[in-house]
Amino acid sequence: MAKKSLEICFSPAVFEAHADKEAIVVVIDVLRATSSICTAFANGAVEIIPVGSVEDAREMKSKGYLLAAERDGFVLGFADFGNSPFNFSPEKVRGKTVAYSTTNGTGIIKMAAESHDVVIGSYLNFSSLCNWLIKQDRKVLIVCAGWKDRFSLEDTICAGAFAERLINDGGFSTICDAVKASLDLWGLARKDLRGYIEKAAQRSRLRDKGLDDCIDYCHTFDVTAVIPVLRNGILTIL
Ligand code: MLT
Repeated sequence: MAKKSLEICFSPAVFEAHADKEAIVVVIDVLRATSSICTAFANGAVEIIPVGSVEDAREMKSKGYLLAAERDGFVLGFADFGNSPFNFSPEKVRGKTVAYSTTNGTGIIKMAAESHDVVIGSYLNFSSLCNWLIKQDRKVLIVCAGWKDRFSLEDTICAGAFAERLINDGGFSTICDAVKASLDLWGLARKDLRGYIEKAAQRSRLRDKGLDDCIDYCHTFDVTAVIPVLRNGILTIL
């Protein structure tokens, strides 16, 4: 496979089919995990520890960690706060280590840990991450967190935006149909990204739970230059 090749994985359920220890994995979970992680670091968080199960999250809390945790969008009863990017305010996270557990995002971050690098992608850190990826001269695998192993529109469209920039400005090449499909979806959605996202299932889920105040924010380009990266199982910034 060419050095600067690009692939997209639509769901954690097929990650093994794409997994490559030589690749840089970009995890995307627009609504809301990777948007929240970028916001937390932009607001001064020092470390974020991805935690898999609810039991492990409870144990981290019992050990005294500040805990952000949700399932199906709802904050876990024993957590300090949930997964809205607006929860990760400077007052709450500046200078802190946050234990973090979500329905989809944290699971795929941990699943990809054997890759050459795991970095966190969103619209919020889009350009800084693209510029860094282009400089790495290494295969990139963009992984969509999806929803409970299902395809998600919002993650795939964002992956398409990254693919377009990496191919047009970074000399990446691809023989991956998931990349082609993502580029087409991004081409459709870019004319009115916010309007197109109205179709997304996660958009409806968050509305139905009264958690959709962050949709516009999570679809804003280049709010921060932070590039969260996984080092020894812990997220810090490059
Ligand atoms: C996740 O990681 O599962 C999602 O971001 C879920 C959410 O934030 O509602």
